[in-house]
Amino acid sequence: MAEVIIERTPQAASARAARHIAATIAARPDLVLGVATGSTPAHLYRELARIRDRDGLDVSRLTVFALDEYVGLPAGHPESYAEVVRREVTDALGLDPSRVHVPDGSAADPFAAADEYEQRMEAAGGVDVQILGIGGNGHIGFNEPGSSLRSRTRVKTLSRSTRTANARFFDEVDRVPAHCITQGVGTILDAGHLVLLAFGAGKADAVAAALEGPVTASVPGSALQLHPHVTALLDDPAAAALAHREYYDDAWSLKPADVL
Ligand code: GLP
Repeated sequence: MAEVIIERTPQAASARAARHIAATIAARPDLVLGVATGSTPAHLYRELARIRDRDGLDVSRLTVFALDEYVGLPAGHPESYAEVVRREVTDALGLDPSRVHVPDGSAADPFAAADEYEQRMEAAGGVDVQILGIGGNGHIGFNEPGSSLRSRTRVKTLSRSTRTANARFFDEVDRVPAHCITQGVGTILDAGHLVLLAFGAGKADAVAAALEGPVTASVPGSALQLHPHVTALLDDPAAAALAHREYYDDAWSLKPADVL
């Protein structure tokens, strides 16, 4: 059962997540952090950078793995996740770029690049804390509905709905790549702690299906129910379709001090 924390605003939820991640890095400077892209975690990264500047958090031994990447964008394309992670995470936090990993979506053989990424994650000892967003269709990473809940890092085809959702980052939907490399659902479930962020009414149905619906490949986010340590940080609109909301609010007031 996930811990569900409902905050009034995305900023408050992101700040809470950032404080927790900063404290985790302070306790364990060689942490392996999994990062998501998209709009949702952007404030968390800014907040983490602010805490680093204010408290002098040592991030020199932090290792980062991204969840996914488009296939076929040229290296250096501003909307490639390699560039997004470089801007929002590596540069913002002042990380050593050699410790920041993104699947190689411009590789001549993306299938081999996917396998190699999975091996690289394994060699690093796996992800300790994974930040996740969720797609309006319930995807995590780029694992679209129908993805095997045991899947590993691989090449996937993006759904029209995901390409349409991400068209805001490109000039038009047809410029959004049709393929990606994504960590599998099984790969994501191997992380020690999953921190899901979801904000806005557009995520409400996906959040309810993921946290309270049946566990099914039709909603890849529902695989979170199979993980022993999940924290979901939501704003009010994203929590609106949860049936057990009252319980979560009660549970939050009873939480021990060591949780988020
Ligand atoms: C994107 C990413 C996911 C992200 C999700 C939600 O396409 N591949 O990692 O969590 O879709 O995106 P957003 O946060 O912009 O709503």
